[in-house]
Amino acid sequence: MNRNQRPWRSVLYIPGARERALDKARGLAVDAIIFDLEDAVAVAEKAAARRLLAKTLAEGGFGQRARLVRINGLDSPWGQDDLAAFDGVPIDAVLIPKVGSAADIDAVAERTADVALWAMIETPQGVLNAAEIAAHPRVAGFVMGTNDLAKELKCAARADRMPMLGALQHALLAARAAGIVAVDGVYNAFRDEDGLRAECDQGRAMGFDGKTLIHPAQIAMANAAFAPTEDEVDLARRQIEAYEAVEATGQGVAVVDGRIVENLHVATARETLARAELIAELEGSQ
Ligand code: COA
Ligand code: MG
Repeated sequence: MNRNQRPWRSVLYIPGARERALDKARGLAVDAIIFDLEDAVAVAEKAAARRLLAKTLAEGGFGQRARLVRINGLDSPWGQDDLAAFDGVPIDAVLIPKVGSAADIDAVAERTADVALWAMIETPQGVLNAAEIAAHPRVAGFVMGTNDLAKELKCAARADRMPMLGALQHALLAARAAGIVAVDGVYNAFRDEDGLRAECDQGRAMGFDGKTLIHPAQIAMANAAFAPTEDEVDLARRQIEAYEAVEATGQGVAVVDGRIVENLHVATARETLARAELIAELEGSQ
């Protein structure tokens, strides 16, 4: 599957030191996995987690799931060794934490070849410099680090995320301007289904491609929330049909359900159908 043409609805973090969770991941219905060496791994476990993860990824068995490895920052005692350990190991991207500028990407880019780089946007500096980070030729995606961001902003943890919407939107704007993927932050209360649903719906409404997750219980919700609904697919089909019918008569505007449909709406409708097909294809192969 083309890396740029795959769904990113559900992106699950797995702590690199948790062998059982790593094994389990081969059977989970996630679009992508972030194998974490950074904040989910204690200092005493850093080296063991790195070894375990490199071995696990070399063994493979993750199917269509995108494999991202979140390294420790290059300014930490582990970042360089993390990068070196995955040289030659089959992964889809290196996820760099706490990216503040394009120079932080350069530092990783010059130590790696070929592999795509993803940036955690989770500091005020990273949000402010999101445009140059997204525009870096090696960067393929953003992951919003909402826990770090809340800490740095000193903002309240509110259900509606009002205090950080500006930052999320700014980063999303940069990602869209550069044509890269953007995945929303995690929902910490992993047993709270209603809260997760509300936050997934909000992220989807903003335009994010998917949500990062911390527990398998969150997967089904994210997969559903970030996929086109049956109603959306149905509307997309009717919009395309109606537009093609008026186009055949030399006109440029159709009307569906009392709303105008122009060529730009048809482009969105085609994208909706393509995304629905991609998801159906992926789910058929699992
Ligand atoms: N990925 C894959 N499997 C996971 C998982 C994850 N993130 N979190 C839990 N599981 C597995 C467990 O291994 C367990 O499987 P088992 O019964 O076969 O052993 C099963 O799901 C149920 O787990 P549960 O007992 O409900 O949770 P827990 O108490 O073991 O773990 C957390 C809860 C929150 C500590 C754990 O989910 C976790 O570490 N999440 C990731 C945190 C993280 O990566 N943070 C950094 C980014 S914010
Ligand atoms: Mg973080």
